[in-house]
Amino acid sequence: MEEKVKKIIKEAEEKIALIKEVIEINELKSRFLGKKSELFSLTALFRTLDSEKKKELGILINKTKAKIEALIEVKREEILARIMAEKLAKESLDVTLPGVMFNSGSKHLLTKVIEDFEDFFIGLGYEIKDGPEVESDYYNFEMLNLDKDHPARNMQDTFYVDVNQLLRTHTSPVQVRTMEKAEGKPIQIICPGKVYRRDEDDQYHSHQFMQIEGLVIGEGINMTHLKGTLLAITKHFFGEDKEIRLRPSYFPFTEPSVEVDVFDGEGYVELLGAGMVHPKVLQMSGYNPEVVTGFAFGIGLERLVMIKYGLDDIRHLYTNDLRFLNQFKGVK
Ligand code: PHE
Repeated sequence: MEEKVKKIIKEAEEKIALIKEVIEINELKSRFLGKKSELFSLTALFRTLDSEKKKELGILINKTKAKIEALIEVKREEILARIMAEKLAKESLDVTLPGVMFNSGSKHLLTKVIEDFEDFFIGLGYEIKDGPEVESDYYNFEMLNLDKDHPARNMQDTFYVDVNQLLRTHTSPVQVRTMEKAEGKPIQIICPGKVYRRDEDDQYHSHQFMQIEGLVIGEGINMTHLKGTLLAITKHFFGEDKEIRLRPSYFPFTEPSVEVDVFDGEGYVELLGAGMVHPKVLQMSGYNPEVVTGFAFGIGLERLVMIKYGLDDIRHLYTNDLRFLNQFKGVK
C-alpha cells in the first residue's frame, strides 16, 4: 500500500512540475484527487479491512491528499507570480526617459492687445460691435459726411469691389450702423476690426491694419468727457505716468476734431484721432443734435503697439516670423 501511494505522489509531482497555466490545475486536481482518481479508488478497500487497518489507510489517504493539494497550491502560486512578473515587465514605465516636448501656440500680439482693450472698455460700460469688412460707399463715406466728391476721400482711398462696394477704410461704418439701429437712444460702443487703405506698404504703412474706434452719444456729452476718456486709454496702455496733448485737426465726421499725442519722455508722439461727432452725422442717423451730442475716437492699433514695444517695422506684425512672435508670448 505504501508503495502504491508513493507511486501516486511521484506521478503527481511529475505532472505538477510540467504544468504552466492556471487552467491545467483543475484538470490535475480531478485527476489526482477526484472521484475517479487512483487515490480515491483506494477507499474501496475499506470494506475489506478491519477497523484498525481501516484507520491506518484513512490516515494515509488523507495525508497523501493533503500532500498533493499542497504541491498544487505551490504550483498555483508559482504560476500566478510568473504571470504578474511578465505583466509588470511588459507594462513597465521608465520614468527616467526624456519626455516629448509639445509646441504650444499663443495668441498674436495684436489679438492680445485688442482683447485687453475690450476688457478695459467693457469695464467702462462700453459694448463691443462689429460689422462687414466689405462695406457700402453709403456707410463708409456718405453717412459720415463724406459725399461722393468730397476731397477728404483722398485720405482714405481704398479697394473697390464695384462703384458702391469697397473694403472699409475705417470701422466708423459700424458706428453708423449702430446709430441707425439705436433710434435716438444713448450709445457707448467700441468697434475693433480690420480696415483697408490703398497705401504703399512700407515700414510704417500697410494696406490692411487694425482699428478700434469708439463712439459715445447722449445728452450733455462734451469735450471734457472725450479728453478724460482719451487720457484713461493712454494711461491704461502706456502707463499711469503718461500725459496727453490735444491738437486741432480735421475729420469730416467730427467738429471740433483733435489729434492726440502722448509725451514719451523726449517729445510728443502722435497717437490717434478724435472729436465731437459732427451735428450732420448725428442728424443723418436719426439723432437730434439740438438735444444730444457725442464724441468719437479712432485708434490705429499697430501704431500704438509699435510705439509701446519699440517695433521698427509694421510688417513684423503680419509676416508671422516665429522669432518675432515668440518674443511676445509673455505679454498678457
Ligand atoms: N475714422 C477715422 C480714421 O479712420 C478716425 C477717427 C474716428 C477720427 C473718430 C475721429 C473720430 O481715420
